[in-house]
Amino acid sequence: MPASLKETTKHGLAAGDAQRPERTDWTIDQGWDRYTAQEHGVWKTLFERQSRLLLGRACDEFVSGMADLPIGADQIPDFRHLSDILMQRTGWQVVAVPGLVPDEVFFEHLANRRFPAGQFIRKPHQLDYLEEPDVFHDVFGHVPMLMNPAIADYIQAYGVGGLRAQQLGVLDKLARVYWYTVEFGLVKQKDGLRIYGAGIASSASESVFALDDASPNRIRFDLERVMRTNYRIDDFQETYFVIDSLDELLALARIDFAPLYERVQGQPDHEPGTVLASDQVISQGTGRYHANKRQGVTQ
Ligand SMILES: [Fe+2]
Repeated sequence: MPASLKETTKHGLAAGDAQRPERTDWTIDQGWDRYTAQEHGVWKTLFERQSRLLLGRACDEFVSGMADLPIGADQIPDFRHLSDILMQRTGWQVVAVPGLVPDEVFFEHLANRRFPAGQFIRKPHQLDYLEEPDVFHDVFGHVPMLMNPAIADYIQAYGVGGLRAQQLGVLDKLARVYWYTVEFGLVKQKDGLRIYGAGIASSASESVFALDDASPNRIRFDLERVMRTNYRIDDFQETYFVIDSLDELLALARIDFAPLYERVQGQPDHEPGTVLASDQVISQGTGRYHANKRQGVTQ
């Protein structure tokens, strides 16, 4: 994950020089042989819980991507083995990084079809708490989707677009598109809405909240609308944006964002929970979860 997506977190975390690795592209060796039994155990707990929750909730492409990869319950996957399969399927690789990386490093990797994945795994007492994306979020959440050609092209285009958006000073706008698709996207499938965003797919509580709870809005994805919409970084999303199929992302990968940036620049942002008259609303949320939070009511 790039530092920009997280810079407003309550922890104020950003990729600092303190954790800068020796290599200029910030990659490190995964050091697979050095994972302890306890670390593999954390993976197993998370993997089993999440696999159960995602039955009937994850999109078909996530399920088939997972099935075709050497990812299982018993051990943290070895990135070399993941890359072998990914490379054959969509030309992607998984590379290890210590955690958050600077934006330009992150985009450069994506533009070259390398997915930077956190090498570490959360501690047993932090199963549901994540300061920085770890190997469970990055591998379980993201890598199955990289087996899909549309997502594979879309994320590469995001890397190329990120480098350009940085030069244009509009990275915040592009980051929202990534957030509401790659991290927190929902897709309409034959039996209803399904998860394709890694931030949802790797979270036990949000995979239920995003689909089953009455609180959040579920709104048809619209590029300009999303570019103008702030997001929640430290809690569940107030709004999820829904695409009709993953191919819609492929279309996004091919359009020139520059005129859009220009149009959107002078316009006000939307708050995460706002529903607009122009929205195509799939389900309007009650907003109860976040309203309670704001009033200090614990759920
Ligand atoms: Fe992520």
